[in-house]
Amino acid sequence: MKNMKLSQLVKEYPFATIFLNEKQIDYCCGGDHMLYEEIAKKNYDRKTFTDELSDFLKDAASKYQATVDPSLYELGIDELIDHIEATHHIAERLLIEQVDEKLNTILRVHYKAHKDELRLVHSLFSDLRKELLEHFAEEEEEVFPLLKLKATAESLALVESLEGDHEAAGNLIKQLQKATGDFTPPKDGCPTYVATYALMKSLVEDIFLHIFKENSILFPKYEKGANL
Ligand SMILES: [Fe+2]
Ligand SMILES: [Fe+2]
Repeated sequence: MKNMKLSQLVKEYPFATIFLNEKQIDYCCGGDHMLYEEIAKKNYDRKTFTDELSDFLKDAASKYQATVDPSLYELGIDELIDHIEATHHIAERLLIEQVDEKLNTILRVHYKAHKDELRLVHSLFSDLRKELLEHFAEEEEEVFPLLKLKATAESLALVESLEGDHEAAGNLIKQLQKATGDFTPPKDGCPTYVATYALMKSLVEDIFLHIFKENSILFPKYEKGANL
């Protein structure tokens, strides 16, 4: 497999997102980064990595659900925004509330045995929850309606600020992955503990796709059409 931007890799091979998640390579905020450089940064062997990726892609379509549908690249700004709100914003708000409720339960029940881990996870998740809910509101109520109109210097600056928010959310997610051992519950964790981490993992994977669609499809399309 040749070297290319991660955004290009995902465009050509949508199922690569699943493989990149497993390898903890950030394709959403890092869409502009080059594949070979990211492989090197994580200290993977390039040939082993690209062979594994090619093998994975061979039968991924029969094993997994679609990730970034190729038809999304053909949509206009309005339709893309509607798609992002109707899928990611709605699904993530629900997941955030489910995780929040369960996390509060396990914080109490497993406090004595797992105080250090749970306090850190609770604190990081609370920060992420706040960031995301405010970010979704800003997109829906302020920025996305502007993106449906002609581009201005102000609207382009707002897009940049959203990209900054994505980066901040991405950093919190990386810390959350570290604090939870990539969402691995402890051996003595009850079913609620297991469910909390599984839901958190689903949330994070959805956020990655969501940010990718905004950073690598919606915003470039908007900027390209700006003609300022
Ligand atoms: Fe969004
Ligand atoms: Fe966003």
